[in-house]
Amino acid sequence: MTSPSATVPALGVDPTASLEFPADFLWGAATAAYQIEGAAGEDGRTASIWDTFSRVPGAVLDGDTGDVACDHYHRMPADVALMKSLNLRAYRFSAAWPRVRPDAGPVNAAGVDFYSRLVDELLGADVTPWVTLYHWDLPQTLEDAGGWTNRDTAYRFAEYALSLHDALGDRVPYWTTLNEPWCSAFLGYTGGQHAPGRQEGVAGIVAAHHLMLGHGLVVDELRKRGQDGLGITLNLTVADPFDPAEPRDVDAARRIDSFWNGVFLDPIFKGRYRDELYADTEGTLFAGRPWHDAVKDGDLDLIGAPVDVLGVNYYHGDGASGVPREDLLGSRIVHASRSTSTPFPGCEDVSFPRRGYPVTGMDWEVQPDGLTRLLVRLKEEYAVPPVYITENGAAYDDVVGPDGTVDDQDRLTFVDLHLRAVHAAMEQGVDVRGYFAWSLLDNYEWAYGYRQRFGIVHVDYDTQVRTPKASARWYADVAATGRLQP
Ligand code: NOJ
Repeated sequence: MTSPSATVPALGVDPTASLEFPADFLWGAATAAYQIEGAAGEDGRTASIWDTFSRVPGAVLDGDTGDVACDHYHRMPADVALMKSLNLRAYRFSAAWPRVRPDAGPVNAAGVDFYSRLVDELLGADVTPWVTLYHWDLPQTLEDAGGWTNRDTAYRFAEYALSLHDALGDRVPYWTTLNEPWCSAFLGYTGGQHAPGRQEGVAGIVAAHHLMLGHGLVVDELRKRGQDGLGITLNLTVADPFDPAEPRDVDAARRIDSFWNGVFLDPIFKGRYRDELYADTEGTLFAGRPWHDAVKDGDLDLIGAPVDVLGVNYYHGDGASGVPREDLLGSRIVHASRSTSTPFPGCEDVSFPRRGYPVTGMDWEVQPDGLTRLLVRLKEEYAVPPVYITENGAAYDDVVGPDGTVDDQDRLTFVDLHLRAVHAAMEQGVDVRGYFAWSLLDNYEWAYGYRQRFGIVHVDYDTQVRTPKASARWYADVAATGRLQP
């Protein structure tokens, strides 16, 4: 990010105001199993699609895998103590399906025990546990049977979820079914940038439907058990037209909104798919059939059943264009929104040229006001339940000082600006109840391997030493006081 004074006028938030959040606002940090745990072959855990995909030559930068990652599996108590020292009130983590039910088979007591100990450790430290059931690590066995394009996977997901709930349901108040199903579906089955690396066009929508069916089945079952705090975490985009005066850009933004946001928001909060989605994808087939053949009677009732909370992950804005503007495109191609075109059904011609916003290490445009607008839209158009920002943060090229410290003012400013954007939405009546920094630790950033660091705590991958960055110290203060200072 360039200096705040140069960027803030365009970002739509006021960095000079003193702001206060409600006393019960949940301040947390988030991680995910494959990104931090390591211990990939221990205590009965079997392979997930990421263990396989990370070994495909060229799939991940430097050929990095999550075999060791942050070694959190062995360092969990110390990591929880670190959270407490940073005044975190909540910790959002995911469970590894192939640890809990290896090969999607019977329950693995040792795997469940790890999460049970984690929950006890958190409760002992006064940190509220928030579990995500699926953060992208599908058992490889299920992918071999078709993965998320196979309807049966949704039922296997519900089985796994119930097993974990058997063990943790008495102690965990928040249950997120899926993390960013857009990525699982479209980066996994259409773009191929993520595991399992399939590039099969409209298969992404079929996968999305089955993911949401899995979500609906789990919500249904856990609701019957009397569980509340149920929800899903979505990565929604604020697709602005690159040039609002250019009709092709306006249409590109509409189509991106339809297939990116609409695919998930409409069935979950309106119980149907958007007419435009059918129209925009007409004539595209998966396995010789239209994607909506996957939608069976009763599916949308399950998917549209009420949830208690909505998790929103927000990292960047996007300016969609339907006009070729190759000269203005970003340079990185792993993230879908930076490729020269999107291979996504009905959006094959859409690109995301740079608009002059500052960018993070991921080449993502920093646009905090997009978060405010997104939250207000969710309230007005979708009447969503209480919202938690389940992820927000940034990768930057951190410079480590001789003493191991990192003075990451760019990350600190990023989080500050986005918290101000959240506050602005709350002032407009959006019921936001908490914020989770992504991430607690530097970790395995999927196709980028260990090159991109999102942590508020630095991890030395050679020694596994954790060192809170300046952003972590600052965030600890915000969490303790509930205040943002100018
Ligand atoms: C969202 C994903 O949930 C998380 O796993 C990832 O590391 C961050 N985005 C940053 O890309």
